[in-house]
Amino acid sequence: MAEPAKRIGVLTSGGDCPGLNAVVRAVTKTAILNYGYQVIGFEDGYVGLVENKTVHLANHSVSGILAVGGTILGTSNKADPFRYWRTPPEGQRVQVDESKTVQDVYSKLGLEALVVIGGDGSLTIAHRLSQMGLNIVGIPKTIDNDVEGTDQSFGFDSAVGTITAAVDVLHTTAMSHHRAMVVEVMGRNAGWLALTAGVAGGGDIILIPEIEYNIGSVCHKVTQRSKHGKKFSIIVVAEGAKEKGSDVVVERILKDSPDPIRLGGIGRKVAEQIENLTGIEARVTVLGHLQRGGPPSPHDRVLGTLFGASAMELIAKKQFGRMVSLRAGGISSVDMAVPAGKQWKVPRDYPLIGVARGIGTSFGDSTC
Ligand code: F6P
Repeated sequence: MAEPAKRIGVLTSGGDCPGLNAVVRAVTKTAILNYGYQVIGFEDGYVGLVENKTVHLANHSVSGILAVGGTILGTSNKADPFRYWRTPPEGQRVQVDESKTVQDVYSKLGLEALVVIGGDGSLTIAHRLSQMGLNIVGIPKTIDNDVEGTDQSFGFDSAVGTITAAVDVLHTTAMSHHRAMVVEVMGRNAGWLALTAGVAGGGDIILIPEIEYNIGSVCHKVTQRSKHGKKFSIIVVAEGAKEKGSDVVVERILKDSPDPIRLGGIGRKVAEQIENLTGIEARVTVLGHLQRGGPPSPHDRVLGTLFGASAMELIAKKQFGRMVSLRAGGISSVDMAVPAGKQWKVPRDYPLIGVARGIGTSFGDSTC
């Protein structure tokens, strides 16, 4: 009798980012071509895993998606099998633990392993499922780059490219009108996007969550530039940046999300402060979800492909409960306990901060 086909599952979870399809493609093709697995895709992240909503992924299903943004599988940044929203026939929505359902779906489908492509929240859930006995391998995804245990997550480089291009464009209009241009970027509680794109785009002031700013220092930099003939300034602000003594600016709270706080509004606050305190006209641009969409950069296509292939290698070697990672330019892996429940933030002594300060960039923290 023929052996039953070996099967793996794959899902994309959390906020989308460029490169998800590149990873799904690499996982699927490597699984089929190199290891002879069948591949089952779960729809909409953990929703598909709880509800057993699946698609069969063949070679042709992932053909032509390498350069396409988003995810062909769909995703959700609200679904958590341990706190899953259900609406009883009569009554209010309640949260129930559906982790046992996940175990059943996993066994019923005869999966040998599951690849979870997600950020810190999704990987934390994956770690809990792996502790329950599911064979899981994680792949770090997010534009925020805040996954602990890897030097970079895929999606980050593409978003840095989008922000940098926007800052380049804003430079010319800022110069024409002698304005202060504030650009608010995503990143949640980590400043990786603002720092990296701020340096790449030649931002004059970069405000990140890890370094609280003092508005006097920000305004001093803007007026000093003006006095020295630079009649415009570019200020790149992370959505999680904070003024000394104040809290983050929250745009909305999503009660049905495991990570309910959505940041936003700090850019407007900084622009108003600059205009009121210096008399220099200021404008704000909030890049928002533009940073999450569009085709992945070449770097993210390659990183995503390496991550996908290496996740399959871990499965083939039965090294479960691990997350693939980028370390010192090479692909390796770490225990999934490493990213679980954590967010990787920019260390205050991160070399790029020192280099940026050395070329005159302000982080809004000097006393003046
Ligand atoms: O984690 C990715 C991210 O884009 C953050 O940078 C941002 O704070 C958040 O997701 C926005 O979430 P939503 O898509 O729910 O608005």
